Amino acid sequence: MRAEDPQIVRLADYRPSDFLIETVDLDVNLHPTATRVTARLSIRPNPDGRERAALVLDGEDLKLVSAAIDGGAIEADALDVSPERLTLANPPRRPFELTIVTEIDPTANTRLMGLYRSNGAYTTQCEAEGFRRITYFLDRPDVLAVYTTRVEGPKDETPVLLSNGNLAETGEAGDGRHFAVWHDPHPKPSYLFALVAGDLGVVEDRFVTASGRDVALKVFVEHGREDRATYAMDAIKRSMRWDEEAFGREYDLDVFMVVAVSHFNMGAMENKGLNVFNDKYVLASPETATDGDYANIEAIIAHEYFHNWTGNRITCRDWFQLCLKEGLTVFRDQEFTSDTRSRPVKRIQDVRNLRAAQFAEDSGPLAHPVRPQAYAEINNFYTPTVYEKGAEVIRMLKVLIGPEAFKAGMDLYFDRHDGQACTIEQFVACFAEVSGRDLDQFMLWYHQAGTPSVEVTTAYDAATKTFTIEATQRVPPTPGQPTKAPAVIPMVVGLVGPDGRDLPLVVGGRKADAVVALTSATTRVTFEGLEQRPVASLFRNFSAPVKLSADLTDDDYLFLAANDPDPFNRWQAGQTVALRNLVARVAALRTGGATPEEPRIADAVGRAFAPGETDHAFAAQVAALPSEGDVAREIGDDVDPDAIHAARRALKGAIAASLADEIAAAYARLQDTGHYSPDAASAGRRALKVSALDYLAADGGAEGVALAKALFDGATNMTDRIMALQVLSLHAAPARDAALDAFAASYGSDPLLMDKWLLIQASAPLPDTLDRVRELTRSRYFDFGNPNRVRSLVGAFGANPTQFNRADGAGYAFVAETARALDARNPQVAARLLGAFKTWRALEPGRRAKAEDALRTLSRASGLSADVGDIVRRALG
Ligand code: PHE
Ligand code: ZN
Repeated sequence: MRAEDPQIVRLADYRPSDFLIETVDLDVNLHPTATRVTARLSIRPNPDGRERAALVLDGEDLKLVSAAIDGGAIEADALDVSPERLTLANPPRRPFELTIVTEIDPTANTRLMGLYRSNGAYTTQCEAEGFRRITYFLDRPDVLAVYTTRVEGPKDETPVLLSNGNLAETGEAGDGRHFAVWHDPHPKPSYLFALVAGDLGVVEDRFVTASGRDVALKVFVEHGREDRATYAMDAIKRSMRWDEEAFGREYDLDVFMVVAVSHFNMGAMENKGLNVFNDKYVLASPETATDGDYANIEAIIAHEYFHNWTGNRITCRDWFQLCLKEGLTVFRDQEFTSDTRSRPVKRIQDVRNLRAAQFAEDSGPLAHPVRPQAYAEINNFYTPTVYEKGAEVIRMLKVLIGPEAFKAGMDLYFDRHDGQACTIEQFVACFAEVSGRDLDQFMLWYHQAGTPSVEVTTAYDAATKTFTIEATQRVPPTPGQPTKAPAVIPMVVGLVGPDGRDLPLVVGGRKADAVVALTSATTRVTFEGLEQRPVASLFRNFSAPVKLSADLTDDDYLFLAANDPDPFNRWQAGQTVALRNLVARVAALRTGGATPEEPRIADAVGRAFAPGETDHAFAAQVAALPSEGDVAREIGDDVDPDAIHAARRALKGAIAASLADEIAAAYARLQDTGHYSPDAASAGRRALKVSALDYLAADGGAEGVALAKALFDGATNMTDRIMALQVLSLHAAPARDAALDAFAASYGSDPLLMDKWLLIQASAPLPDTLDRVRELTRSRYFDFGNPNRVRSLVGAFGANPTQFNRADGAGYAFVAETARALDARNPQVAARLLGAFKTWRALEPGRRAKAEDALRTLSRASGLSADVGDIVRRALG
């Protein structure tokens, strides 16, 4: 397809498939360059489809060998075939069997969609539209079939032969080959199909479900890495138990398998019974993984496992409904982590991430609704908006209707829709029904893009002892949506008294709910019986994904930072004061005004490092200043990344100077005991320790650098080592290069570790970073064919605030050129690199012009993929 005239798919055009496929018998005869796929499809006309419709099967890059109906050859003029389509103009108007033989080349498959090879092993990726690269098919999620898959391959190269479901049969196939037959009794869409074959090591365990089903658990990894798979295995068992306890959902096959592969476009994939993972999210040991890696593995294992019910048993009617499975499953994995680790810390991390990724997306040219109305390339809609905002929408639903109604709604959803391909309307209807609430206005969260801003003014009236909160909401215009209607926004409120405790909420003489639903442009609520002016704690636990600006003073926020009973807002209050100060510092830097000092920020940070502070994970969040991205978004337009960087550095330096002794004492106190454990408390302690180190080294002076070097040299686990390297990498000191060299000397043969090494260098806020990144693309640690390498180096560079946004535009040109070069090989990953441009319009005019230049040059390139073409077009649109 030419990039200039994209084919747009619209939700409004949805209609049911004209045909259904009831069973799929696949026979996959593996060969490195010429794999034969025989698909026997039992097809019947769909009573809900159009009469006398042609049968049009999707394909991509396919070579047809033969096709037959009910065993008989199809006449040449009845069949129209291209690599992209197989059409039967006049198929039988009754159930029939279509047999299709195709030939595919897994070795030449560099897009990593369909059947491809990764380190010699065969693997598949079918979401969203990869199955059509294996055989001609009705490759759409509302066509659900029962699959039986026979995989045949050479015994020496592919001793392990896997597919979805339960193992039905194995045997010899002659010529040194063997086969396995897998049967999946659960009807599923083609995107959940998977096949893996290779010479893999395995870790095995078992799990007995609540109702007594004995499930074999297997994690497949490269030989020699089995000991790095035990944490993932443990996470599987804990996820299975949690889904039974929290959602009443049991596993439904005799075996649950996870395979780690080194070449993977995304994080992981929930194929029925056979999850395929990016190995980065499976493999972990104290010597090779950081605390962050452990947390990611646990969360992603949980996420993919939870898809078994939210995604697989109940799937999406069409790809516009992607958030039906993704938003909901993210919500579920967030809850799992909250129950497993610290709930407030998880919430803070999720909100940081939401703001960094989703708010940024929502404020720029790539903004789209949680449920988009149209797409040119569905691959480009696996976004923070669909995933993370999609999860926030469900969290709001729970806040609005309450936990009991939410649980009843989930139960009804599972009950009513098991085995179906559903829409968001069907999902939301379950909650409307059980709660008796009208959720029509709530649906706007799915329809309207853009982050609502809520402006709050407060007024205390001493005469009437009342406190009024007035909230005005506004949803900004986004591409294709110039005007917006008010949404229903749950604002959870607390009123904190002078003693730091919550005061009773009374409205109209009665005890009032903490949830105030903002349903119109302006909503006002008056609380009574207040002897003194309380301090309002707004949007507790981040009850809605909005930008809040309130008339609270710094004094109010500093009070909340010290006292708010809601831990999220205790953290948020400190951030708000720091953010205000950073914005003022940036303005001062750009106009040459006096630096606005706010020494009380250091007091708040100081509490994190106080000897009495025992919740280290929470304290580490308190100690971390708002990011450069946070400041950029707060400023909104005419953004100067260098000024933001300088301002943040100055504030950090000021805090470090005023707390030097406290932080040094904390750093000494927080030293590891020696034995490494990845649990949340230990990880929190290490996080606070490195935060202390970061402050101690903030000025790049010899003392701080020496501490970081000592931590690096003496590290007994990868978390400490990487954190020390990260601190060193901020400063162009000789210790930095020595440490980088030492790291490469020790771990040069481990690509996942060298990814961290690449990422650290690409993230450095130093003027030579781009040169280094260019050089590293030519090093032996880099490989354009591996998405993890590309993301670690080029992706990380694209997220580097000052160096991607170099004033000379060289950063923009580099990322655009790299995406262009990668496009022919792997369009999906190439398109993702261009996500770096999602906020380009907010830049100051000089950089904005340079960024636009880079995008325009790219848009004029010939032969762009649909993926890259779509992003470039929208980014410029
Ligand atoms: N469905 C996967 C997940 O979130 C993500 C994914 C999408 C993976 C597309 C591969 C391709 O859980
Ligand atoms: Zn998912």
